[in-house]
Amino acid sequence: MNITMIGTGYVGLVTGACLSEFGHQVICMDKDSGKIERLLAGEIPIYEPGLNELVKKNVRENHLSFSTDLAQSVKSAKAVFIAVGTPSQRRGGGYADLTYVYGAAKELAPHLTDYTVVIDKSTVPVGTARQVARVIKETNPEADFDVVSNPEFLREGAAISDFMRPDRVVFGCDSEKASEVLKEIYNPLYLTSTPFVKTSLETAELIKYASNAFLAVKVSFINEMATICEAVDANVVELSKGVGLDGRIGGKFLHPGPGYGGSCFPKDTLALLRIAQEHGTAARIVEAAVEVNAAQKARMVKKIRDALGGSETGRTIGILGLTFKPETDDMRDAPALTILPALAEKGARLKVHDPQGMTEAKKMLPDYEYGESPYDVCEDADAVVLMTEWNQYRALDLERIRSTMKTPLFIDLRNVYTPDKMKKAGFTYIGVGRN
Ligand code: UGA
Repeated sequence: MNITMIGTGYVGLVTGACLSEFGHQVICMDKDSGKIERLLAGEIPIYEPGLNELVKKNVRENHLSFSTDLAQSVKSAKAVFIAVGTPSQRRGGGYADLTYVYGAAKELAPHLTDYTVVIDKSTVPVGTARQVARVIKETNPEADFDVVSNPEFLREGAAISDFMRPDRVVFGCDSEKASEVLKEIYNPLYLTSTPFVKTSLETAELIKYASNAFLAVKVSFINEMATICEAVDANVVELSKGVGLDGRIGGKFLHPGPGYGGSCFPKDTLALLRIAQEHGTAARIVEAAVEVNAAQKARMVKKIRDALGGSETGRTIGILGLTFKPETDDMRDAPALTILPALAEKGARLKVHDPQGMTEAKKMLPDYEYGESPYDVCEDADAVVLMTEWNQYRALDLERIRSTMKTPLFIDLRNVYTPDKMKKAGFTYIGVGRN
């Protein structure tokens, strides 16, 4: 099938590449000519494991191409995905900015020729798909089309396997004809018995927010449990296992940490609160999850301060990991962006390292000392803080680290190491939710 993907951001590029791998003829279109030039030159603008190889293979096999020409890309397509950004609006308050979504709808409308399915992939507030349909109809009353909402559930760092082996495919639409097109697009998944959940447009849009909000609630819940564990001298790692093995609860997303971050949970929880509020209702559990997340980041600052004897002023802290999670170079809403400035403000000297995120991080946190390796940033440090659980940090040469630190204090915000092991290695070790 001829498919056009509007937007070559994280979601658009991964989805386009994966659909081309399914055998479809995919054009990834973006207005940003610099981005398209880089893609045409074989350069992938984001770090996502496996994406580089997947793009190159499908370009070589002529299944995947890149263009800035919207008219040409849309004309021959049976399905057009809208996968443009929906950032939080500058004026704040959690509103998702839909300028790019409606802009794309307006621009593609005149070029629809035969029957086309326009698919909202971007995460958008309830009602957006119907509004996209209105925009297209107003711009081109002759157009023969349907609009479908088809949210994505891709985790950064695992996006390709999430696409190829999803828990479910959700699509909301009012039309049988469009539904058949969606089944054709995702046919390889249909054949492997992936559950397909067909709903109304509004329900599909809400499923996306509800899923991310529920996962954010789970993370905030376990972070709150970690605080209680510290207060009563219990162990949150064991607690998480004991709770998560209940099949009704599940062990995933029950790992405490410095708070959730990224381009999705923070933005989508706020957008859901806004949706609820605008419709005269409330989402109090989600509201609490957002508050607990902010408190968790503040608690991490205090944890580090307390470990340093009550003040970080004039102390050197080595930071391992800057991105909001491993296997990505994405720094959006990373807890490091809140925690590190709070420490620096009080006069801490910060030496930082991240396997993939340093180029992005330097744009937002330009004032710290960037090390070439994890060992560089531990040298002469009064404390080391493990912020992101990169594999590279799971098997550190602990003796090498301890011998170069000023004081052997290791604060592990992801509970990667065990207290026993660290004690044996000569560290004062502090985790999250276990004393
Ligand atoms: C999330 C969802 O997991 C995807 O299903 C969804 O498609 C995506 O948002 C999106 O809306 O596009 P992502 O933001 O890539 O994916 O990252 P997650 O793996 O969900 O992690 C989010 C944050 O929660 C990270 O900061 C992570 O460190 C934190 N987290 C996650 C924990 O602190 N503990 C956990 O147990 C799990």
